[in-house]
Amino acid sequence: MDTIDPSAYRHIVFFTGAGMSAESGVPTYRGKGGIWGSYSIGEYACQEAFDRNPEKVLGFHEKRRRSVLLCEPHEGHRVIAGMADAVVVTQNIDGMHQRAGSRNVIELHGSLWRLRCDACGFRKEDFGRAYETLRCGCGEWLRPDITWFGDMLDRNVMERAAEAIAGCELFVSIGTSGVVWPAAGFPALARESGAYCVEINPEPSGATSYDRVIEGAAGAVLPEMFGGC
Ligand code: OAD
Repeated sequence: MDTIDPSAYRHIVFFTGAGMSAESGVPTYRGKGGIWGSYSIGEYACQEAFDRNPEKVLGFHEKRRRSVLLCEPHEGHRVIAGMADAVVVTQNIDGMHQRAGSRNVIELHGSLWRLRCDACGFRKEDFGRAYETLRCGCGEWLRPDITWFGDMLDRNVMERAAEAIAGCELFVSIGTSGVVWPAAGFPALARESGAYCVEINPEPSGATSYDRVIEGAAGAVLPEMFGGC
């Protein structure tokens, strides 16, 4: 495989989706074994579901936390973390990049490890298997600080992501089906901004924005592509 020398690029963005964590054992959302094949979005991943039955939705997210805590970041996560100046723009909520040591991580869809109160604005990090508490001090339910279906993405987060992507010289998309907007528009933004665009995916998305498409798994391709960085 042709390797890439990261020192040849001043700004690098890794844009990741669920496939990035697949080899760690975290299920993807779509396709075989995907989360949305077993759990209905309308019952577990939207504000209406939470309003109807907060305990059920919180229970689902606690189950996800327990399963993610059994998984470890893989070599691909470590290769990315080794590039300390690179920015990671991720759709993932699992925190794997941070656990591998990445520091510049922009989480587009929030985090499994944060809760918020929409009544008073309180936010808290919470990293255990079970949530420390399900209720805010103000008495309302705390909800996972995650972008569910139908939610608006956080404007500041989107702006930071768009700025990093518009200013990058190398854009590497890994493990996303590219069907969920607005994140699905990022490869085109990188391309329009003049970045060299690479996709790594065993089943490439079919997007036309890429200069190079590598049909392969993140954990195998990344160490080879970046030659042991
Ligand atoms: P998807 O489940 O839609 O797509 C996962 C992608 O990863 C697919 O294209 C797979 O081919 C690819 N893949 C599988 N194994 C891989 C591996 N080992 N290495 C590289 N790629 C691999 O997940 P996302 O695109 O991340 O949002 O989904 C986007 C959003 O939809 C998620 O953030 C989530 C979901 O609903 C919310 O929950 C708001």
